[in-house]
Amino acid sequence: MKTACIVLAAGLGKRMGSPLPKVLHRICGTTMIESVLSCVRKLRPEKTIVVAGRHIEAIKETLGDDGLSYVLQKEAKGTGHAVLCAGPALKDFKGTVVVLNGDTPLLDHETMKKFLRMHGRGGSTISVLSFTAEDPTGYGRIVRNASGEVSAIIEEKDADPSQKRICEINSGVYALNKEALSLVGLIRINRTKGEYYLTDIVSEAAKHGIKTSAFCIGAEEEFMGVNTREELRRASLLMKKRIVKKWFNRGVTFLDSDSVFIHAGVSIGKETTIYPNVHLEGHTKIGRETTIFPNVRIVDSEIGAGAVIKDSTVIEDSKVKDGANVGPFAHLRPGSEVGAGARVGNFVELKKAVMGKGSKASHLSYLGDALIGKDVNIGAGTITCNYDGAKKHRTVLGDGVFVGSDTQFIAPVRVGRGAYIGAGSTITTDVPAGALALSRARQKNLRGWADRRRQETRGRGKKAPKQK
Ligand code: UD1
Ligand code: CA
Repeated sequence: MKTACIVLAAGLGKRMGSPLPKVLHRICGTTMIESVLSCVRKLRPEKTIVVAGRHIEAIKETLGDDGLSYVLQKEAKGTGHAVLCAGPALKDFKGTVVVLNGDTPLLDHETMKKFLRMHGRGGSTISVLSFTAEDPTGYGRIVRNASGEVSAIIEEKDADPSQKRICEINSGVYALNKEALSLVGLIRINRTKGEYYLTDIVSEAAKHGIKTSAFCIGAEEEFMGVNTREELRRASLLMKKRIVKKWFNRGVTFLDSDSVFIHAGVSIGKETTIYPNVHLEGHTKIGRETTIFPNVRIVDSEIGAGAVIKDSTVIEDSKVKDGANVGPFAHLRPGSEVGAGARVGNFVELKKAVMGKGSKASHLSYLGDALIGKDVNIGAGTITCNYDGAKKHRTVLGDGVFVGSDTQFIAPVRVGRGAYIGAGSTITTDVPAGALALSRARQKNLRGWADRRRQETRGRGKKAPKQK
C-alpha cells in the first residue's frame, strides 16, 4: 500500500517559552522534527509533507529539501486545520495518509510499521495509534462505546472526570485512507481552545458511519509528546538511555553510563572504553578499541582504532588516526589531523594543522595552518605565528624535522626534510633540508659579573652612619 506522510510542525510551541520553533529543539543533538522524519523515512512514503507555520523558513533551512514538501499553515488554528492545509498537496495521491506530530521524537519505526500493517488488515477507514499511559494528564483520551469501538478522542481540557480516568491515549499518529481526508474539512471549531482539532475526525467519522480503530501498541515512552522544557529534559534522558543501551549491546564499555552524552549521529567501535563525563557530538565516529578518558568533548570528528584521548581534551571537526594519543588538555580545532601513532600532549592546540604519522608535539604548543610531515618532533613551547593581523599563513615542516623547544615559525615558512631547528629560534626564512637553523643570539658568559654586582648592591644598600 502506498503511503504519504504529513508531519505537523506549525504549532506555536508557547509552552516551551522559547523563540526557537518547538520542533527545532534538540534531543541528543538532533532536532525533534529530524528524529520524527528519520522514523518516517523508514516507512518509505511516496511523499512527505511538513506543515509549518510562521517559522517555516527556519524549519526549511534545518531540514533542507531532502525530498520533502512544505505547506504553510499561516495561523496555528489547530491540528485539524494543519491537516486541511496539507490536503491540496495530496490531490493526486491514492493510498494511506499517515499523520504524525513533529513533537514526538522517540517514535520507533518498527512500531509504526506494525501499526500500518494493522491498519491495512483491520479494514477501518481511520486508524489511531494509541498507548496506555501511566499518567494520561495532558493527552487526548480514546473514548470507546459499549461495544469497544472508538467513538471519539477527547482532549484533557474537554474531558469530564470519568473520561479523565481513561488511560488509553491518542499518540497523535493516524492512518487514514485517502478518502477520509475530506472529513477533516467537516471538523468544527473547538470552543474551549478556539482551534480545529484533528482528533475530532473520529466523532465526525462516527456520524457518517465511518469506522475508526485504535491500536494500542508500543511502549509509552515512544509516544512522549514534548510540549515543555521539562518534557524536553525527560525525552532527552530517555533518548540518552536508548543510545547508551545500543552501544552497550554493540560491545562498548561505559564506566558510568549516566554521565556520558552521546548524540544520535555518533558511531562507536567495539571494545572501546568510555570514561565518565564524555560528550560525543554531531557525526563523530570512534574506532575500535579506543579509550576516551574523562571530561572529553569530541564534535564531528573521527577517532581511529586504538587511539587514546586523555582527560579534558576538546576535538572539533578533526581526525585522529589509528593508535594516536591526544591529551590531556589538548585542543584540536577544526581542520586538524593527527597521524597514525602520532602524539599531541598537554596544552597543545592545533588549528588546521595536519601532523604526519609518528610525529609528536608533546607539550605547550600552538600549531595553526601547519603541514607537518612524518616523524617530526616538535619541542615544548613551539608556536606557529600564522597570523599577520590580516591574513593567515602556512608553516610546512618536512618529514623527520626536529624542532627544538621554544621555537617560533613566522609563517609563511618551510623547513626541508630532516632539518634541525635549534631551541629558542625565531624562524623567519625557509630552512633547507638537512640543515641546522639557529636564530637565537649567541650566549655570552661574563665571568665574575654576579659577584661584582652583589658587592656593589651591598655597598649601596649600607645605611649612612648616623650624624651625631
Ligand atoms: C495532540 C493531540 C492529543 C494527543 C497528543 C499526543 C490534538 C488536538 N491533540 O495534543 O490528542 O494525545 O497530541 O502527543 O491534536 N500543530 C500544527 N498546527 C497547529 C497546532 C499544532 O501544525 O495549529 C502541530 C504542532 O507543531 C505539534 C503537533 O501539531 O507538532 C501537535 O500539536 P500540540 O499542540 O503539541 O498538541 P497536543 O496538545 O500535544
Ligand atoms: Ca504535543
